[in-house]
Amino acid sequence: MDLRERAAAALSAARVRTAGLTDAVTDGELAAQHSPLMSPLVWDLAHIGNMEELWLLREVAGRAPMRPEIDPLYDAFEHPRSERPKLPLLAPAEARDYGAEVRGRVFELLERTPFEGTALLDDGFVFGMIAQHEQQHDETMLITHQLRPGGPVLTAPEPGPAAGPPPEAAEVLVPGGPFTMGTSTEPWSLDNERPAHTRDTGSFWIDTAPVTNAAYRAFIEDGGYTEPRWWASEGWDQIRAHGIEAPLFWYREAGQWLRRRFGVVEPVPGDEPVLHVSWYEADAYARWARRRLPTEAEWEKAARHDPVTGRSTRYPWGDTDPTPVQANLGQRHLRPAPAGSYPAGASALGVRQLIGDVWEWTASDFLPYPGFRAFPYREYSEVFFGPAHKVLRGGSFAVDPVACRGTFRNWDLPVRRQIFSGFRTARDA
Ligand code: AVJ
Ligand code: FE
Repeated sequence: MDLRERAAAALSAARVRTAGLTDAVTDGELAAQHSPLMSPLVWDLAHIGNMEELWLLREVAGRAPMRPEIDPLYDAFEHPRSERPKLPLLAPAEARDYGAEVRGRVFELLERTPFEGTALLDDGFVFGMIAQHEQQHDETMLITHQLRPGGPVLTAPEPGPAAGPPPEAAEVLVPGGPFTMGTSTEPWSLDNERPAHTRDTGSFWIDTAPVTNAAYRAFIEDGGYTEPRWWASEGWDQIRAHGIEAPLFWYREAGQWLRRRFGVVEPVPGDEPVLHVSWYEADAYARWARRRLPTEAEWEKAARHDPVTGRSTRYPWGDTDPTPVQANLGQRHLRPAPAGSYPAGASALGVRQLIGDVWEWTASDFLPYPGFRAFPYREYSEVFFGPAHKVLRGGSFAVDPVACRGTFRNWDLPVRRQIFSGFRTARDA
């Protein structure tokens, strides 16, 4: 597939997913706010179309705005999520029609636009950016589904049993020394992933697989949430203020831990990576385990560094795009696969499940790489750089392959736990 076909396929796949997420509930539920942390689904729906119109039809094609009066409603910086239900948003049918009209024109544009000449057009970047943007909002909408009360409306097959033997060791040694972090060649990489540069790390050990629910439960049962010594002070304040004593969506009934997952109540599966923990919870667990979170550079080295060639690969398994035997991505399942799954997706050093399953909190603040340039707009990354946001890596079961690479960087506030977040731990060698 060339890049143009790839762009067309990525845009179409995103729209199929968007339709699945928004057709699953009634118009009333699309317009309702299920959590003050999230927009109504109908906001995401029209915002996806508005972003696509702005970048592809206005910026690239030079067309006049289709509905200039709606721009401020869908500018994420004008109105915080909590206020969006009160805005005069497009009704569900209008939002769908608007998105479809934009998309029809975008497909015409895609056929006649050269994939070269400007930084936006080179390799079809701007089309890839818009497909990634829609997929990122699809993940956001899936989070809204998880927060929505009521019975299940989404279905997906369960992940199969791990194809192959479990990992031989619980942790992997990553040798110290330089490696290449970030990318200057990945055609649809976003500004914060660039440029490629050399980073040094010491030698360290990293967990072969993400921390499981069973391991996390041992932390809870050892009184982890009652011991201030494990917690960063802001994290301790958060769990005290909100009465937090387990991951979000967990509750205890008759001595058993249950969880609610997309409208289903079930026992917490011990072998699955822990999900819906804040950075503070991950950090506290690691301290309790006499370990620490990996830095972002350590995570990327474990994921991309091939000690034989000295090169950094695009993904843990090499340079080829993800397939279903390598990683749990793309909402094929509505949960992470058991820890130790996907041996075919292991890194050169043998670290598993770095891509897919759960986003992994790292110890690091979200900061620009040396030589960073905001592109194509400051509000994608630059305005979020600084100590307020921590970096997450690797993508979750809810992330589409188009928005997932060994270099892809996500970020959030350290208190956040409605996201599909887990972690693995590390220690100095
Ligand atoms: C990169 C996931 C933090 O959802 O806030 C969507 C992606 N940027 N629209 C977000 C994004 C603009 C962003 N994250
Ligand atoms: Fe957006």
